[in-house]
This record gives sequence, structure tokens and C-alpha cells, in this order.
Amino acid sequence: MESRVSARRLAVLLGPRGGGVPAYSWLADGIRQLVADGRLLHGTRLPSERELLGELGVSRTTVTRAYGVLRERGYASAVQGSGTVVQVPGGPVAGGGEPLELASLQPTADGVVDLTCAAPAATPGLNRAYERAVQRMPSFIAGAGYFPLGVPELREAIAQRYVDRGVPTDPDQIIVTTGALAGLAAVFRAVLHRADPAIVESPAYPNSVRALDHSGARVVGAPLVTDDLDGVAGVIRRAGARMMLAMPDFHNPTGAVWSDEQRARVAAMWRAGGVTGVVDETMADTWLDRPIEARPMAAYAPGCITVGSAAKTFWAGLRIGWVRAPHALVGAIARARLSMDLGAPVLEQLAVGQLLRTQGGLSDESRRGLTDSRHALLGLADRCPGWRVEVPTGGLSLWWHLPGDSSTALVAAAERRGVLLAPGSLFAVDGRGLERWIRTPYALDEMTLRRAADAIADAWADVAHLPRGSETLRQA
Ligand SMILES: Cc1ncc(COP(=O)(O)O)c(C=O)c1O
Repeated sequence: MESRVSARRLAVLLGPRGGGVPAYSWLADGIRQLVADGRLLHGTRLPSERELLGELGVSRTTVTRAYGVLRERGYASAVQGSGTVVQVPGGPVAGGGEPLELASLQPTADGVVDLTCAAPAATPGLNRAYERAVQRMPSFIAGAGYFPLGVPELREAIAQRYVDRGVPTDPDQIIVTTGALAGLAAVFRAVLHRADPAIVESPAYPNSVRALDHSGARVVGAPLVTDDLDGVAGVIRRAGARMMLAMPDFHNPTGAVWSDEQRARVAAMWRAGGVTGVVDETMADTWLDRPIEARPMAAYAPGCITVGSAAKTFWAGLRIGWVRAPHALVGAIARARLSMDLGAPVLEQLAVGQLLRTQGGLSDESRRGLTDSRHALLGLADRCPGWRVEVPTGGLSLWWHLPGDSSTALVAAAERRGVLLAPGSLFAVDGRGLERWIRTPYALDEMTLRRAADAIADAWADVAHLPRGSETLRQA
């Protein structure tokens, strides 16, 4: 389907006209920024010159000249019968998804919708943040460029975010990493010895479990804190665990959020059991309906280690994450990190610092888009009899309960219809079971997800109609 932007919408996106540059240059640069930021998608048809001049109150020559500049620079082309269409110079690069499995490291074929990935497109302000970061670079390029703990201004901005959320933090407690996963891997190396029992709620984010495995720890599964807190207490007591990996803020894949009381109780259990809590806050900022009321886990458990990321709030391609640790553990984690890499790229650190200072968290625009996308996938509840979901107030996925042991069969049927899904078993701590569950991320745009929902509903009909014995579906 061809997408187009109306003159009115384009005027809103462009915002008020700034002074100091000719009108055509302001218009061309504004549209270029919108393309670069992904707010005007590759292939979107621009309003006609006549429509736009009426809306912006500029002359026809201004619009003609601006469109001409965009064409010259490769940001637009004239298409016979369609007017002017914006484009990304060189065309869009197909994005690699969240690498849950080696198979998904391969580029996805055209037309296939990859729902193995729960990471959205970049925040609208990213391109501007990069431009500002480039302007800051001269202060850095005279030096060597190694910042194994992070560029000071980013460490300060991250610490300030914790202070704003009610957790006193000084920049010395922050280590900037190349993404949250690398942060977690450094933490595991620093706090665990070979064969130490380490507890993880199941289901879990699979890449963290793999990182834990690779650190030599003995992974022990526990129920979700939000389902069975007493069960978790029992596992902590029996396992003699040294560490517990937790995701209190929009757990991936379930979207569950720990209440104030659950946070306090888990903190007490960690204290009593001598367990180091490692808190993955990668999803913490992805609230859609309302922000999380409870404070970050570090407010309840001051001894815990927190890992965060810019991936879901700003863009996964930045590859910037961080660790916030008690002062006493910063040295050990920094040393473990140096066994893997010597620091994150400076330009990306400056861009994230810029975004944290100017935008704080997820943009309103991204939040609206994700809410529409979530709505598109919630339509599956009406179309797939027996599917149940607890609608999460944030995060990036719906975690569906299916009426039979049919997750793997559904993944195969959906793939035949052009949608890639990860089976429930992928999120099991031991890689088995969870056949009654499927995760559907809503990080892609609404239109694509409506198409994906149609294909998934058809795939489900295929699975539900398979003759008995040739599939694993058994009605509950
Ligand atoms: C819960 C969780 N932790 C960590 C990560 C990895 O984050 P990063 O891209 O910052 O390494 C992800 C990415 O999907 C995630 O969902």
C-alpha cells in the first residue's frame, strides 16, 4: 500500500519555521530530517506543491526549489503519476532482528514479517542527537578515545536519571557498556564463580540465560515473582544461590511489573539469603498506559546491580547500555568488562547523553505508535478462539496463552504464511516446555502488524484444523 503524508500532517511534523535561513532551505532540511529520523518512511508520497504552499503560507517557488534540493541530495524522487516521493539515500538497509537464534541472524526475505524481534525503530529525535554529538566530537578527537567506564557526560546523565527516579546515584557508580547484554555478561563474570547457582525467573529473555550459561554458572529456574512469590522464596532458600537475575519492570516476554510490595519482599529475601540481585531494566522506560508507580529496584535493594539500555527507548543500533552498581562492586565489574572490550563508541555515547538530557525517555510519538501497534495485535483475541492475554501496560510484547500445546506447530504454520515467531520454549530457562505460550512483539508499525495478525490468525486456523495425532494441539 502506498503511504502518503497530507500537507497538514507535514506542517505539524515540520513545526514552526525558524529564522536565519531561506524558506526553501528550511523546508528541504526539515523534510530531510524527517526522512532521516524515520518519521517520513521511505516511499512516502509528499503533498503536491499546490497543497503544501496553501498549508505553509510559502510561495510556489519555495516549495519547487525545496523539492528540487531533496531530489538532488537523493532524499526524494519524482515518480510518474505519483508526484514527489521521499526516499532514504541508497535505500533502507534491512535491519537484523533481536538475535534470539542463529537463524534470525540471517537477513529476512522480502515481505516476511519478523516477529522474533522486540525492538522498535529509532526514536524520532535520533538523527538530531547524532548531529549534536558530531558537533561535540572536536573536544574528544584530540585524545585516545578510550573510555572504559564511559564518557563522563553520559555517566552523569545516566546517574541523573536514577536520581530523578528516586535512587541516589553518583556518576562513579555507572559503567557504560556496548548494550545491556554486554553489561549483564560483565556482571556475571564479576560476581559468579564456576558452578555457582544463579536463579532466573522462567520464562526469561533467552540471550541473558545464554550469557549466564557461558559464565559457567548453574542456572536454576524459578517461577515468576508476579505469579508465585512464595515459590521464588522456596527456590532462593533451597538453591543456596549467589545471584538472582530479575526483570521487575515490564518483564520480557510477559510484560509483568512487580508491585511495591513484591519489590520490598524480594529485596528482603536477597538480603536474608546473601543473594546479589541483578536487575535487568532494559524495558523499564517502555510504558504505554502509565509510568511504573514503584521506584526502581535499587531503591529497595541498595546492594543490587542494575543494568539498563538505550535499545528500546532510543534505538538498538546505538549499542549503548550501562551498569549501575554499588561503589564496592564497580572495580570488579569494570575489570570483567575489560576482558571483553575497552569501551563503547564515543559518538554513540554522546548521542545517548544528548537524548537523555533533551528527551529523557521514550518519545510521545513512539509511545502512540507502539500503543496502536499493540492494539493491532490484540485483535488476535477475537480471531483465535481460546487465546488469552493479560494486556501489559508497557514493554514490547504480548505473551499469549494458547488453548493447547501448539506453540511449535503455530510457529511452523505462521512461517509458511510469511510471519516469523519464536516458540514459547525459547523463553523457557531450560529451553523446554512453554508449548502453550507464544510471544508476539508489537515493535513494528501498525499496518505491518495488522497484516501479520491476519497471517497468524490463518496459521492458527491451519493448526486447529490439523487432524488429531498429526499435531500437538489438544484442547484444554
Ligand atoms: C530483557 C532484555 N535484556 C537485554 C536485552 C539486550 O539489550 P541490548 O540490545 O542493550 O544489549 C534485551 C533486548 O531485547 C532485552 O529484551
